[in-house]
Amino acid sequence: MKIGLLTSGGDCAGLNAVMRGFAKAAYSIIPQAEIYGIMKGYAGLIDGNYRKMDEAEFSGILNLGGTVLGSSRTPYKKLILPEEAHKIESMKANYKKMELGALVVLGGNGSHKIASLLSQEGLNVVALPKTIDNDILGTEVTFGFHTAVQVAAECIDRIQTTAASHNRAMAVEIMGNKTGWLTLYAGLAGGAHIIIIPEIPFTIDKIIEAVKVHMKKDGGSCVIAIAEGAADTEEAALSKKDRYGKRAEIGETTASMRIVKAISEALGEECRLVIPGHIQRGGSPTAYDRLLCTEIGAFGARFVGTGRFGVSVAMIGGRITYNRLSDIFGSKLVAPDHDLIRVARDIGVSFGD
Ligand code: F6P
Repeated sequence: MKIGLLTSGGDCAGLNAVMRGFAKAAYSIIPQAEIYGIMKGYAGLIDGNYRKMDEAEFSGILNLGGTVLGSSRTPYKKLILPEEAHKIESMKANYKKMELGALVVLGGNGSHKIASLLSQEGLNVVALPKTIDNDILGTEVTFGFHTAVQVAAECIDRIQTTAASHNRAMAVEIMGNKTGWLTLYAGLAGGAHIIIIPEIPFTIDKIIEAVKVHMKKDGGSCVIAIAEGAADTEEAALSKKDRYGKRAEIGETTASMRIVKAISEALGEECRLVIPGHIQRGGSPTAYDRLLCTEIGAFGARFVGTGRFGVSVAMIGGRITYNRLSDIFGSKLVAPDHDLIRVARDIGVSFGD
């Protein structure tokens, strides 16, 4: 069987580890498996940019960051516009031309939507859940998330010691535009005093109140973990377009700068902001992610081998299984009464609400 493999959307640690796990299992359990690497995500399938991979190319990449196939973003919303229909036709035509028996997509929410669309168009698709945001519906965890939590938590750790040395308030902006999983996990793991996530709109007054509590303690300091998609109660009531429009008017992309400015004014001393940014996506996967990636990849090969298409590999109840792609449209948000939110509140963490 000829199998096309592509990595789509924002990269994360573990993409290569998943491809390795998939390929090793595919060569072993699928008769006459041939793997074609499709370059730069769906763009490669649209443009017919692909090449046959050697089995040896999947060795030695377990701990390698990035993706050997390259990646790009193909916004789903744009792709389904009538003027983009030719791109869907090109993907179908190239799938046929390559004589693929299956297309395996390593991607996040947007990439899953396209995978679902291609599946409805008759392609044999298996999706593998990738994202540092951990926001794919129907799976407890996505690969890349654990590594990003590790990186962001280490960043908070380091900020903790410098903030404590200088009795300062400091903030760390953590990736996650729609969802706060990464900020919640890293914030708790790093012992942040205040955690601000998109699912719980904040007010500046509540944040300042909480900062003051920590600063007043003997030798006090305060560390605030802020998700890049955090919004105050007024912004949260606006549409995404209006929110970004308003922010653009004042030269702001995220709420973090506004938060640290307000804290600085309230304390009469500067509150500094640290943005680790894409460091959370790059580099080698943690041991946990390597295991998860190997499992997800190998199960993906099993699903291809047994003809279970139109699905996304998932972890449910700690075991690998799958969801139908058509059942998992949308983002998995942090429920305001999630166990970890309750635990955080119980140990005195403020969410700025
Ligand atoms: O979806 C992964 C992610 O890293 C988000 O957390 C973040 O909002 C976004 O991608 C950043 O994307 P880009 O690198 O395209 O700016």
